[in-house]
Amino acid sequence: MDSKSCVRIMKEWDIVAARQMGREIAKNLGFGTVDQARITTAISELARNIYLYAEEGRIYFEAVESLELKGIRVTAEDTGPGIKDLSLVMEDGYSTSGGLGAGLPGVRRLMDEFDIESEVGKGTKIVTVKWVR
Ligand SMILES: Nc1ncnc2c1ncn2[C@@H]1O[C@H](COP(=O)(O)OP(=O)(O)OP(=O)(O)O)[C@@H](O)[C@H]1O
Ligand SMILES: [Mg+2]
Repeated sequence: MDSKSCVRIMKEWDIVAARQMGREIAKNLGFGTVDQARITTAISELARNIYLYAEEGRIYFEAVESLELKGIRVTAEDTGPGIKDLSLVMEDGYSTSGGLGAGLPGVRRLMDEFDIESEVGKGTKIVTVKWVR
């Protein structure tokens, strides 16, 4: 995989591009169709949040290996307003936009690893990993 597998998220259409790139990479890494769907759903949620709340950011993809495992790392990074209370946004049903508030908790469930860092006024970085099984 190219280390520059990256999609900039600025317009709504970029969400589709990120999904497509993620699906292609996941497929090439050996993920089955069900896991491909989980990964693309997670990518959609992350990209949609960038589009809605941060206006601009990027999603990038890396192949990762650890012992016998291989997987995909999906990172969403933006320079938006940041998130003040991380534990609050990780609760099911919390939304500041009248959404379902299911996006981030959903991403955490769909992926095997999930890490979020955010600084108010600076931006947000979410790193997720899914392992091929
Ligand atoms: N990249 C981001 N930058 C700033 N705030 C964010 C970002 N992503 C999420 N948030 C904040 O976290 C809240 C929860 O996000 P989450 O994706 O779980 O739900 P939602 O987007 O409100 O609704 P849903 O995704 O279910 O349509 C958002 O309402 C928003 O306030
Ligand atoms: Mg959302």
